This record gives sequence, structure tokens and C-alpha cells, in this order.
Amino acid sequence: MSIWHQRWDENRIGFHRSLANPALTEHWSKLQLDTSSHVLVPLCGKTLDMHWLSQQGHRISGVEFVEKAVIQFFEDWAKIPNQVSVNNGEKFTAENINIYQADFFKIEPDDAPFSAWYDRAALVALPPSLRTLYVEQLLALTTADAKGLMVTFDYPKEEMKGPPFALSDHDVEHFFGPSFEIERLQFTDLTEEEDRELSRCSLSVFMLTKR
Ligand SMILES: C[S@@+](CC[C@H](N)C(=O)[O-])C[C@H]1O[C@@H](n2cnc3c(N)ncnc32)[C@H](O)[C@@H]1O
Repeated sequence: MSIWHQRWDENRIGFHRSLANPALTEHWSKLQLDTSSHVLVPLCGKTLDMHWLSQQGHRISGVEFVEKAVIQFFEDWAKIPNQVSVNNGEKFTAENINIYQADFFKIEPDDAPFSAWYDRAALVALPPSLRTLYVEQLLALTTADAKGLMVTFDYPKEEMKGPPFALSDHDVEHFFGPSFEIERLQFTDLTEEEDRELSRCSLSVFMLTKR
């Protein structure tokens, strides 16, 4: 059982928020997307950010491998989703939101490629050894002109064992620089606010444009 299945089993889902993420609502319009853009949400959990994105007119496809998270998303929304099997997963759909219950690294979504993506607590949830694969999968699942909004977290790596795993500016440049234009939209120092034993920590929001 993965640490994530265990966390969902034990309801240790402190990452889940009861409102749409302020980084999303503040910065999403800067991507200047058509409302027809189809948005991929990797490692989506049961985030309400998918509702916010769908209210902007987008079609959404989340990917989450814990069944409980997917079921709770639709239960909380009071919808009974349509369910079909796809390659390497199950696809649940209600209105314009699909959630693939699947491993992000194995899923073959039947509605790819996506023209945009939103990553909050996705890349930083993965161990650093999976970062190259994550970026490769993003590249494979998105259109040539795709844009993404990514919310990251950084702290001195030696001070905490993730998740969340620290993602430094250098990491962002290393993993995304070769294939994306990178623009930082926000930097917030959270050292005083975060209830963790960290000598510094910060949140950043990046706009990534495929080139
Ligand atoms: C930190 S949570 C963030 C969830 C969501 N993005 C949010 O903001 O609430 C990371 C989620 O990724 C899921 N996850 C981790 N590895 C995964 C993988 N390889 N494929 C699909 N989901 C995965 C976990 O079950 C967990 O729900």
C-alpha cells in the first residue's frame, strides 16, 4: 500500500482545502486560455479547484490513484458519476469533470492531449526520483502550445523528509527549462506562518508555457 493510500485510509489529508486555492483564483487568468481549453489536473485528490476550473468553462480531467478520494469527490458534489474502464484505469465523469482513477505514470487518458494543466501539491508530492518521469508524462499528455500553472513549496531539503518535497528554483529550471518557458507569478515567504520546524519555507507560483 502506498503512503497515499494509507493517508486517505486514515483521513490524514491535511493538504485538502475547503475552498478553491487562492493561487489558482488569482493567477489562472494570466494563462489567457480559451474557455474551451481542456485542463489536466495531475494528482488531483478531491480538490475543489476542479470545480472552480470547471466554472471558468473548462473541461477538466483529474488523475488520482486512490479510489476513496475519487468517490468522495463525487459524493461531496452529490453526483453519481458515469464510470468506464480505460487503458490502465477507470474514468469517472459527471458534467464536465472527469477523474481517472489511475497511476499518473501509467494512465492513457482517452481524451488527451490537454491544452492546459494545473499542478497544486502534485510534483511536490512525488519523491525527487520521479520528477523526470512526471515532466515526461506532462509533455506526452499535453498539446504543443500547452500552458500550466504550478504551485510549489521550497525549504532546505535536509530539514524535512517530504512529502511535500522541496522544489527549489534550481529544480524548476532543471526539470522544466529544456521544454518550457518559465515565469514566476508569485513568491510568498511562509517561514513565520508554517507550523513546521523549518528555518525557511516559501510558496511559489509559476506559469509554464511549452515551447
Ligand atoms: C498532496 S495531495 C494533493 C491533492 C490535490 N492536488 C490537492 O491540491 O488537494 C497528492 C495526491 O496525489 C495522489 N497521488 C500520489 N501519487 C500518485 C500517482 N502516481 N498517480 C495518481 N495519484 C497520485 C495522492 O493520493 C494524493 O491524493
